[in-house]
Amino acid sequence: MTVAQSPDRADIRELGEESSVWFTLTPLLKGPSNPLTILMQMAERYGGVIPVNMGHQRIVLLTAPEHFKRVLVTKPDDYIKYFDGLKPIFGKSMITHDGALWQNIRMPQQPAFHPDMFAEYIPYFLAAIRTKMESWTRLADSGETVEMVEQTWTLAADMICKALFDREMPFNPHFVFKCVKTYTNVMNHKSIRLKKVAGEEFEITEEDAAKAMEVWAGVPPQVFAADPREERERTLLKMIEAAVADPSIPEFDQQQAVDELKQYLWAGTETTALTLAWSLYLTAKHPEAADRIRREGETVCGERDPTAADYSALAYTRAVIQETMRLYPPIWMLIRVAAKPDMIDGKEVRVGDRVALFAYGTHHSAKYWENPEDFVPERWMGEAAKRIPYTYLPFGGGKRSCIGGAMSQVENVLALSILLRRFRPEYVGPEPPGINATVTLTPKGGLPFKIKTLS
Ligand code: HEM
Repeated sequence: MTVAQSPDRADIRELGEESSVWFTLTPLLKGPSNPLTILMQMAERYGGVIPVNMGHQRIVLLTAPEHFKRVLVTKPDDYIKYFDGLKPIFGKSMITHDGALWQNIRMPQQPAFHPDMFAEYIPYFLAAIRTKMESWTRLADSGETVEMVEQTWTLAADMICKALFDREMPFNPHFVFKCVKTYTNVMNHKSIRLKKVAGEEFEITEEDAAKAMEVWAGVPPQVFAADPREERERTLLKMIEAAVADPSIPEFDQQQAVDELKQYLWAGTETTALTLAWSLYLTAKHPEAADRIRREGETVCGERDPTAADYSALAYTRAVIQETMRLYPPIWMLIRVAAKPDMIDGKEVRVGDRVALFAYGTHHSAKYWENPEDFVPERWMGEAAKRIPYTYLPFGGGKRSCIGGAMSQVENVLALSILLRRFRPEYVGPEPPGINATVTLTPKGGLPFKIKTLS
């Protein structure tokens, strides 16, 4: 397959445009170390539907689970996807589309995410985890401080390349990670243009953004061009190639294939990586949870590699990942554009309104959780795991929910279980870590760690 793509200057200029909803919300999200407390207070004070006029734009903030259900499940076609400012990341991949086009693109890829496939993927997840363990052993020897989201991003990218594409990672993930951040930190688009680094004025120019975009655009062609590791037949990459060759889906052309890869390399890495990084932070702060994960791994797997059956038995480790996504949902807000007028709880929704579903808010609300700010993995086990629908939305809901959510749980449960059995990652950053609520919920300035081996 031959592909070529040059960065589109218009996309670059979109950075910092005031039309981006993340940017529009900036004034509400600046200030405290956790800016989302301001939105939490608004939800408490003004209820489930909060129309906010932000200059040129009307945003309708939804904070109640029944309204999440209305938008995602009852009337999904009346609320369409929203991707202002993120075109460089996603191109025209399926995550950005609606209606029949979205369906035609998603359908041929869906089988790669069927739970029956996970057993096939596990050896490749393990191979990537082993590579990470080798590098952590060196980092433990050197004693240097590492940024954990970058560490887990490179692991997640390696897992995707090996398991879904049948490739060794053909790019430098640390370099790509840094480039991608130029785009995903949407809320800072304006401020990154003039930012202080080490006391010096530092300007991110269109040229820097163009370079980042060029790097990102170059990644899918490298994946396509790399040699297969094992010539496996049932991979996501093969399904994408088959879709390109299928005349009954003309919209699935070569550019579509490139954009699908971009989408997976972002949606499948950033979110998975953030969850694993935050779970390492939480278990570093709660050593009793880390010890319980180690004991569970020993009991379930002993000295052998975990299998698909073991994944079900790692119940506590899975609960830690679920609790991590409750406290730090990587996608903290789902955004749609109203394509039709609506009335929600007596409040008008106009065509064109940006409708923001504040998932973080329900995850942290005392209405739905006992001691919502506490880290309590046990709330996900046994009878305690029963929930009011739509109060927990790490993977969204309805037909547009995450295609890779279940798979990411397998990746993260295995990675957390295995890494903690060999290492004791020590968090050495500020307490609590600051939060940067951009497209994803990221730690402000990253999560610095020192890696220690267990004796
Ligand atoms: C902890 C890990 C993950 C989280 C928290 C997460 C979260 C989400 C959320 C919230 C959505 C829906 C967005 C919306 O409705 O606007 C979504 C969609 C999506 N995710 Fe994930 N995701 C994760 C892992 C993955 C993985 C591993 C993959 C693939 C390798 C993936 C691929 C996608 C794709 C392609 C979509 C768009 C689906 C569509 O529009 O039909 N995600 N994800």
